[in-house]
Amino acid sequence: MDDITLLKQASRQFHPSAEFVKNAAISGMDAYRALCAEAERDYQGFWARLARENLIWQKPFTKALDESDAPFYRWFEDGHLNVSYNCLDRHLVNGNADKTAIIFEADGGEVTRVTYRELHQKVCKLANGLKALGVNKGDRVVIYMPMSIEGIAAMQACARIGAIHSVVFGGFSAKSLQERIIDAGAVAVITSDEQVRGGKSLPLKSIVDQALEMGGCDEVRHVIVHRRTGNMTGQVAGRDLWLADLMAAQSELCEPEWVSAEHPLFILYTSGSTGTPKGVQHASGGFLLWAMLTMKWTFDLKPSDVFWCTADIGWVTGHSYIAYGPLAAGATEIVFEGVPTYPDAGRFWQMIEKHKATIFYTAPTAIRSLIKAADSNPDVHPQQYNLTSLRLLGSVGEPINPDAWLWYYKHIGREQCPIVDTFWQTETGGHMISPLPGATAMVPGSCTLPLPGIMIGVVDEAGRELPDGQGGILVVKRPWPSMIRDIWGDPQRFIKSYFPEELGGKLYLAGDGAIRDVDTGYFTITGRIDDVLNVSGHRMGTMEIESALVAHPLVAEAAVVGKPDTTTGESICAFVVLKRARPAGAEAQLIAAELRNWVAKEIGPIAKPKELRFGDNLPKTRSGKIMRRLLRLLAKGEAVTQDISTLENPAILEQLKEVS
Ligand code: WT7
Repeated sequence: MDDITLLKQASRQFHPSAEFVKNAAISGMDAYRALCAEAERDYQGFWARLARENLIWQKPFTKALDESDAPFYRWFEDGHLNVSYNCLDRHLVNGNADKTAIIFEADGGEVTRVTYRELHQKVCKLANGLKALGVNKGDRVVIYMPMSIEGIAAMQACARIGAIHSVVFGGFSAKSLQERIIDAGAVAVITSDEQVRGGKSLPLKSIVDQALEMGGCDEVRHVIVHRRTGNMTGQVAGRDLWLADLMAAQSELCEPEWVSAEHPLFILYTSGSTGTPKGVQHASGGFLLWAMLTMKWTFDLKPSDVFWCTADIGWVTGHSYIAYGPLAAGATEIVFEGVPTYPDAGRFWQMIEKHKATIFYTAPTAIRSLIKAADSNPDVHPQQYNLTSLRLLGSVGEPINPDAWLWYYKHIGREQCPIVDTFWQTETGGHMISPLPGATAMVPGSCTLPLPGIMIGVVDEAGRELPDGQGGILVVKRPWPSMIRDIWGDPQRFIKSYFPEELGGKLYLAGDGAIRDVDTGYFTITGRIDDVLNVSGHRMGTMEIESALVAHPLVAEAAVVGKPDTTTGESICAFVVLKRARPAGAEAQLIAAELRNWVAKEIGPIAKPKELRFGDNLPKTRSGKIMRRLLRLLAKGEAVTQDISTLENPAILEQLKEVS
């Protein structure tokens, strides 16, 4: 603690070392400003240059950005390329064929390495297998897999044949999986028999079976199963087949399907403030360009680096910074199957030491929980491990509080490693606001400056730009290559969600609040401005959880709010009115447990409310609107000081103060 106080006092800004600056891809603030100026001067020319220099085109594009159908922007549209070719084949001819692409560490510690040549072969075989099953360009394939080489190969194989993948996080329930399969209209599902995390085996294939049995997934013709543990119950003849059997019969060469840069690469479902999860649709060329370029700019990737992003392929971070960016940039990357606390909370540090990781990218939630663990058990404190291989640290998914930042800086980075606090979203495809490690002076808790070419603004509710120092709504003022292209099957919702008329229809609405510092111009994210929660870096809509709760036969009404949590960032607090009398004591406990499990079954364990409170009613205005603002105060345990005379039922507030 004393050290932290010292660090805080020493200076507010942290500068990268001269050594780091010297070798960095973007070296010094002048280099950063020059790139920003180039983008300002000639936006199209800037992106066209980068796309030509970084991607391999089978047919060159003639125009960078087409705005004729805004806000459906199109990038490099008449150019043809293949994403998998850009991630794999390019390294076979530049002397990197035998470079390790992936160091895979299983939950139990077993390590498997694949070179670029081997990964290419795997991807080609899988791609040929998919083709043999009749999966065509444009078809959707749902991937429901654990962290594995096969999971990444499955994504790459889809890209190779122009099929559109939709990865569903392995923690989602059968019902969530079914909804995504139906919405995407998937023709095949790739899964594994089980996944292994924290020493426990959890079923995946049987959840796929359940999802398909729920009905509506009529287009699914094939379920391809990777054998992870060998434990599997039930095979449907004609539908199910082993991944290994499918691949065994195939050639190691698969001619890539050349597609337009605008061809959809994937759909990834994410939560919004209303309705069901949105299928965020990304395009091939623009997405890959930014995933690769941010590997070079934000992560300053060098050929000798060992890159480790701890995300799951079920989230966008695992798409941009595991499955695509690192491979396109020719990195050696670590892929980890397990959890940070198994066999103990020193696992991350032990793996950094063992594999000599040089760049480490994780979420503030993980850092905060590992700080707690290290405080209570000196054996898992990072000082027990040799972390000297590290040269750069990253943070993603939620704001990082200054204390966690300082601990990360001191104990993991030994005060030698810059920290890139990367602000972005599923919809943005890649980093938007982040320090550049060889240029930007860091301020704990601020994601600092927009990346070159990314035009960020802070506006009021009418879309008018606000002066620095005044908090407002975070927007992106110009389209950028890796931006969301559409919400799968719902273009109207795309426009309403991201280019709302209230802001003038031209600004991309991120859904976050932000403030720009008067002196430094640095941005600080002030949190979501909609009903989206961030629990352990997982994004969830309050409405989804409410819908799940009211689907339970006992529940009449439910309102869900976020509550600040020192480990998970936010936690879920649900206020519930039952169809029967308000329960108390043991009965309340029992029903609360039942409802938690119900939500886990409906959505997934990540959506389980941490806290449940029962009331005879919910605080409402006379017109019947639930006062969520008041519920947020109650959840935090704060006093309601404002005027509540407009409330229909003010007495209810007393009752809802109690936790069941
Ligand atoms: C939301 C996006 C970023 C990829 C993983 C999450 C929050 C993300 C930061 C950050 C403050 C952050 C925002 C954003 N967020 N990174 N560095 N500082 N907030 O992607 O699930 O689409 O969530 O995560 O609220 O809107 P996502």
